[in-house]
Amino acid sequence: RGKRAFIAGIADDNGYGWAIAKSLAAAGAEILVGTWVPALNIFETSLRRGKFDESRVLPDGSLMEITKVYPLDAVFDCPEDVPEDEVAESVKQDFGTIDILVHSLANGPEVSKPILETSRNGYLAAISASSYSFVSLLKHFIPIMNPGGSTISLTYIASEKIIPGYGGGMSSAKAALESDTKVLAFEAGRKHNVRVNTISAGPLRSRAAKAIGFIDMMIDYSLENAPLQKELTADEVGNAAAFLASPLASAITGAVVYVDNGLNAMGVGV
Ligand code: NAI
Repeated sequence: RGKRAFIAGIADDNGYGWAIAKSLAAAGAEILVGTWVPALNIFETSLRRGKFDESRVLPDGSLMEITKVYPLDAVFDCPEDVPEDEVAESVKQDFGTIDILVHSLANGPEVSKPILETSRNGYLAAISASSYSFVSLLKHFIPIMNPGGSTISLTYIASEKIIPGYGGGMSSAKAALESDTKVLAFEAGRKHNVRVNTISAGPLRSRAAKAIGFIDMMIDYSLENAPLQKELTADEVGNAAAFLASPLASAITGAVVYVDNGLNAMGVGV
């Protein structure tokens, strides 16, 4: 049987979630998607009308199929939103189990403010949407994950090094996500034989990144200073995720895997 993946955090064809879905589909996985409620309608309509067909093309020429799109709200603060437990329950009813869980979402309402100017609510909202959302997703999906399963989230180097401009508590949220990756790897590994890893990705011009406002600068900085002087493509992150989700990575858990052209290894810009 092919593997089944649930990818939370796809709302267009520009982000890491989409690229991860494609790499997993190319490797033969069945693709289920969780999309944020405010973006759900336009995503499904665009999908149906063929707006993404060009970016659905897989290396063998076929088109990626998305079996089902589920509404998902990772913070759930109004009754009409759809929290993680309901999504997991729907997936269980529709398909029984999954093998791969991907968390490719983040949100920090005050991301453009320096942390010194961030409100308590803004900080907590960043942690809630970007860090606890992974804990909650894993908690609700783990009962329907097959043993040997794999989970992946996306993080950013701002968790460990100073990246001015990545504010609003988003750097703190990524630090929490990386720390949780270790503890959750222990708990999910011991209890369910499920692996937990996170990919520390380099800069990509996604919708979320454009909203932060400094993405072009970060891409230029990486081009100038990283060991590999090429623009990072979303597919490169997708392929790393497909590797981590596969049996090739069966001994890798609790890891932060850098997919950033090596930028993290530099001590100074050159
Ligand atoms: P994206 O815009 O494609 O993905 C972010 C997704 O989060 C969107 O689909 C959005 O609808 C969803 N989302 C936001 N709040 C939500 C909520 N409350 N409930 C459910 N979904 C919600 O952008 P991107 O950049 O691909 O982001 C994916 C992951 O990659 C994020 O964790 C991000 O922090 C991480 N990342 C991005 C980098 C970049 O340069 N773009 C660099 C390193 C990490």
